Formats: sequence, C-alpha cells, structure tokens
Amino acid sequence: MNVFYKAYCRCFQQVMRVVECFLPWGQCKQILSGAGSVKELPKFLKEQGFKSILIVTDGGLFKLGMADPILAACEAEGMKACCYHDVVPNPTIGNIEEGLAMYKENECDVIVALGGGSAMDCAKGIGARVACPKKSVPQMKGVVKIMLTGHHLPPLVAIPTTSGTGSEATLAAVISNPETHEKYPINDPFLIPRYVVMDPELTKSLPGHITSTTGVDALTHAVEAYIGSENTPATKRQAVEAIQLIHKYLKQAYDHGDDLEARNQMQKAAYLAGKAFTRAYVGYVHAVAHTLGGEYGVPHGLANAVILPYVLKAYGKSAHKKLAQLADAIELGGTTREEKANLFIKWIEDLNASMNIPTKIMSREGGPLIEEERLPRMIDHAFHEANPLYPCPQVWGKPELEKIYREIM
Ligand SMILES: NC(=O)c1ccc[n+]([C@@H]2O[C@H](COP(=O)([O-])OP(=O)(O)OC[C@H]3O[C@@H](n4cnc5c(N)ncnc54)[C@H](O)[C@@H]3O)[C@@H](O)[C@H]2O)c1
Ligand SMILES: [Fe+2]
Repeated sequence: MNVFYKAYCRCFQQVMRVVECFLPWGQCKQILSGAGSVKELPKFLKEQGFKSILIVTDGGLFKLGMADPILAACEAEGMKACCYHDVVPNPTIGNIEEGLAMYKENECDVIVALGGGSAMDCAKGIGARVACPKKSVPQMKGVVKIMLTGHHLPPLVAIPTTSGTGSEATLAAVISNPETHEKYPINDPFLIPRYVVMDPELTKSLPGHITSTTGVDALTHAVEAYIGSENTPATKRQAVEAIQLIHKYLKQAYDHGDDLEARNQMQKAAYLAGKAFTRAYVGYVHAVAHTLGGEYGVPHGLANAVILPYVLKAYGKSAHKKLAQLADAIELGGTTREEKANLFIKWIEDLNASMNIPTKIMSREGGPLIEEERLPRMIDHAFHEANPLYPCPQVWGKPELEKIYREIM
C-alpha cells in the first residue's frame, strides 16, 4: 500500500471526525418500546396529525399478515393507509421507485417501515426521493448528498422485525443496483428515522437462521465501530453494551425463539450497535459483505458472520488492544493482549459454529459461490466503499482485500 494513499485516507478520516461534530444527530424524536407497543402506533400517528400512511414491507412479512393490523387500525383511526410490500432482500432502486409512485399516488404524508434492514432501507430511499425528486438514487450514493440540498425527508417511522441491522438508528440506507451488481450505502443524517417502535413480540417469528445471522450482523457493527479510530466515549459504551447483550442473549434467542426477554435484549443490542456504528463507522467486513450481496444476493448477516473472524485475524497486532478490551468486557480470560484478542475471535467462531453458520461463502448446493472472473470487480467495489472513509485499524489495498476473498471462497 502506497504510503501517500494511506496518509490521504487517514487525513480524510480526521476531517470527517471534525465534520461529524456538526452533523444533526438528533433526528430521532420518540421511541415506543416494549411488548405490544406496535399497537400504540396508529393512535400515535393520528395524534401527530398524519392523514395518509405508506407502509413499506417485504413479501414474506406481508404474507405473515404483519402489516394487516396496522393498516386496519390506521383506517379505524380515520387515516388513509396503503402498503408497498414487494421489497426484496438487498433492496433495489426499482423497489424505491415503485414505493415512491405509491407514496405520490396516495398523497401520503408519513412512511412506516415494517421489517428488517431491507424494508427500512427501502423506506429511507423512498423518503430521500420524495425530498430530492431531481436526484436519482445513484446520485445520492456517498455522504450527506441529501442534507446538502436542505430538503428534509417526510417523517419516517421504523419498526424493526429483525434484530441486526440497527437501521432504525442509523444514517445509512444500503441499496442494490442489479444492473451494475453494485450495492452501496447512502449516508446522510437526514435518513435517521424520526420515530422508532421497538416491539420484541414482532421478532418472535424470526426463523433460527435469520435470528443467528442478523444477530451476528449486530455484533459486527459493534466490533467494527469499537476497533475503528472514530469512536467517541458514547459509541464505545454503546458498542460494549451491545456486545455484552449479544454474548448473553443471542444463542438463547436462537435456541428459544419465543423467549421474549432474549428477543427484547437482542432488539436493544441491535439498536445500540446501530447507534455506535452510525457515528463510528463499520469497516472492511461490511465493505466485502456488501459486494457479496450486490453480486450474488448473499444475505447481509450471513456474509458478515462468515467474513468477521477472517478480517479480525488479518488485522493482527493492530487490533489486539481493542479486541483484548472487548474480551475483558465479556470476561473471556487470558493474560496478554494477543491472547485475549485471539480468545475474542475464537468466541465469535464458536458462536457461529453453535448456530450452524458456515465458515465459507457457499452456493445453495454447498459448492463454491464466488467466481474468479467477478473477483476483480468485487475487490474494486469493496476497496472504494471502504477507502478513504472507514477508519479501520489498518488501511488496506486491493491485495489485502483479495486475500480475504480467497479465504472465504
Ligand atoms: N441501514 C443500515 O444501517 C444497515 C445496516 C446493516 C445492514 N443493512 C442492510 O439491511 C439489509 C438486511 O436486513 P436484515 O438482515 O434485517 O434482513 P431482511 O430485512 O432482508 O430480512 C430477511 C428475511 O427475514 C424475514 N423476516 C424479517 N423479519 C421477520 C420476522 N419477524 N419473522 C419472520 N421473518 C422475518 C424477511 O421477510 C426476509 O425474508 C441488507 O440489505 C443490508 O445491507 C442496513
Ligand atoms: Fe451490517
């Protein structure tokens, strides 16, 4: 890695650190929380004066009937309500445009995202397009492209039904472009949802393999935020608490999906990890994971869960101190920094194995998935997502990224 490029990345990150002090982080105005809290939402929306609601969700949740009681209760309160329910995992620009058309057609004045990161990010994208009708989704890629226009999104309510992405707390919307096979974040404080409903009852129906992988997504947010160099005392506290909760409750939620306390604590963990990384960033794990989502539709949490131990090992000594602190936070033992860091990585590997998460990225048939000819493009996308923005323990070039791809293949 060219020493000048490395210096450029670190300078860029320092500038962002200063810029962040001036960003409007307080977009979230209210949180409804606790079992059954989603039932309070229609009345709450009515009290806020909203008249026409767009619910954004995915086909699976719609079939499960999760949107029905909200739609019915909104109508019973005298509001108009419609539902866009075709969001796909790794949501696309097409999803956003379809949802936008429905928003306009029904003259909506509020968007309610019901689902995991895919539904929440699609809803953010719709809101962004309402705010900036002249900007296409690709033109919003990057940092603060919406805020610079000065146009606010319509109010956004996030109701997370997975405990992973933390999108309910973040300034990011991660969008896929099926034409270019690219998947990229739009980062803008105006995307932070105004209201959040954290009802653990909604996560009880999550199947085991989604509980596990989305839970490790939350863990990845907390770890990448903690070991990066743009922490604040608050993001450190949030990341540590999230990791402690995940250490205590993720396996329990996986084994006993109806354990409401475990579901409640995992929802809190995902939210805290989201708060931590929205300020302190993620790192190379996410940059690589997004390319797997964009190229092959690999679920985001699964990609992160597989990649996380490889990236942490590859950081070597540069991450030992912080990883050792995290090992101490969950009382893994060990004496030296190196030993503690290795115990922390081993804990992640064991946690993955205990929830049947594989150690390689494979096709559905169990064979290799990543094709040699797509590799250069994926490396290029990961490189440009992470550099110069993500404040990782080391600045990596394409050779280091290629090594990670080869390890997970
Ligand atoms: N905006 C952010 O800050 C951020 C952060 C990390 C990831 N992401 C993005 O979020 C997306 C992934 O989101 P996700 O991991 O939450 O998964 P998801 O939203 O794609 O949902 C995965 C599957 O779980 C199902 N599901 C969701 N809740 C359920 C429930 N309660 N019961 C039964 N089934 C349920 C859905 O129908 C879907 O089939 C990716 O596109 C990723 O890049 C965004
Ligand atoms: Fe993530």
